[in-house]
Amino acid sequence: MPVMLDIPVNIPGGQYPIFLGEGLLGDVGTLLQGRLPGKRVVVISDDLVSPLYASPVLHGLNAAGFASEHLTVPAGEGSKSWDALQRLLDTLLARTIDRKTTLLALGGGVIGDLVGFAAAIALRGLSFVQVPTTLLAQVDSSVGGKTGINTAAGKNMVGAFYQPLAVMMDSATLSTLPPRHLQAGYAEILKYGLLGDAAFFAWLEENGKAVLARTPNALHHAIAHSCRAKAAIVAADEKEQGVRALLNLGHTFGHALEAVTGYGDQLHHGEAVAMGCRMAFQLSVSLGLCPASDAQRVERHLNALGYPATLPTLVSGQAWDSERLLQAMEGDKKNSHGQKTFVLAKGIGETVLQAGVPDETVRTVLQRFGAS
Ligand code: NAD
Ligand code: GLY
Repeated sequence: MPVMLDIPVNIPGGQYPIFLGEGLLGDVGTLLQGRLPGKRVVVISDDLVSPLYASPVLHGLNAAGFASEHLTVPAGEGSKSWDALQRLLDTLLARTIDRKTTLLALGGGVIGDLVGFAAAIALRGLSFVQVPTTLLAQVDSSVGGKTGINTAAGKNMVGAFYQPLAVMMDSATLSTLPPRHLQAGYAEILKYGLLGDAAFFAWLEENGKAVLARTPNALHHAIAHSCRAKAAIVAADEKEQGVRALLNLGHTFGHALEAVTGYGDQLHHGEAVAMGCRMAFQLSVSLGLCPASDAQRVERHLNALGYPATLPTLVSGQAWDSERLLQAMEGDKKNSHGQKTFVLAKGIGETVLQAGVPDETVRTVLQRFGAS
């Protein structure tokens, strides 16, 4: 068994582990012994992850005495949709799953969110396990039980808080992750520094390049630190009644950018979050909450790691339309009584939830980053 970290996630009425180790994929079966309600495990991954990593997981499950099966869905954000959810549920039900069947999500955040939601609603609730294989999923989406799909109304608009029985991450899977996805996932790591941990941000300023170069110690530290930060926030506020909302730093802008690009390959979630963090800091400066020097420090860090400083050119050739972006923010789950609510910064490492941010100020920020 590889060297492994075991980070507990405490939730009301229970606890589940995050196991993090290099090369633990083949041990997932052994690690799950005694943790599942039954012997049947359906492993669900996407069509890019399947050929890379399904085999060691299935083999390990069978060797540990489980009866494993495998299903594949198309890779990409498009699988977080009503259609993909329905196809997955119909396939599972056609295979006569029962309440003791466990679903195992093997893949990135798309697979984790889709499979977790399917587990929440199939037969009114099946056990599920997260085996995240992207940096984004390892540092964020696999932990904390947010599951769901995108709808015409926007990003993650239908879903459930539904916790896994365990999260098992093998940092070796990141060796095959394309650099663009590694960089996208890093945005969610950066978020933990910016929202409440200035010392971690300073560490990232020193070590961010090593993380993106997949230097084992730096990568391992960044993942473990992020998982601990996420576990602490989820333990304090599982259902996002308070502090958990701060995890949405950069996401109000980011989700609007994703909505406008149609959730395709043009702009990945983490890329939208990185741009959203720049915008959130700029908005905080415009509202007089945050020193300009802190926003500049965030910009410098992102520039040094090669993130675009302004909105990328749209495939359509059209300009980013600030009115469309403002409209896309109207359905944001943090809004209340029709007022736009943002996670804003008082400085690096200190964030607040701010309601009633005027459209005019948001528009000026969007235009500063290249929107029309
Ligand atoms: P993803 O799941 O689409 O994975 C990115 C790409 O990498 C896919 O093409 C996938 O096939 C491929 N891939 C996955 N693992 C690989 C590996 N090891 N080697 C090679 N290729 C691999 O995207 P993502 O960035 O992991 O997740 C984004 C999603 O996560 C978004 O939908 C976002 O809304 C969601 N999210 C959810 C939460 C949450 O708390 N539930 C938090 C953050 C983000
Ligand atoms: N990624 C945001 C959350 O888990 O709350």
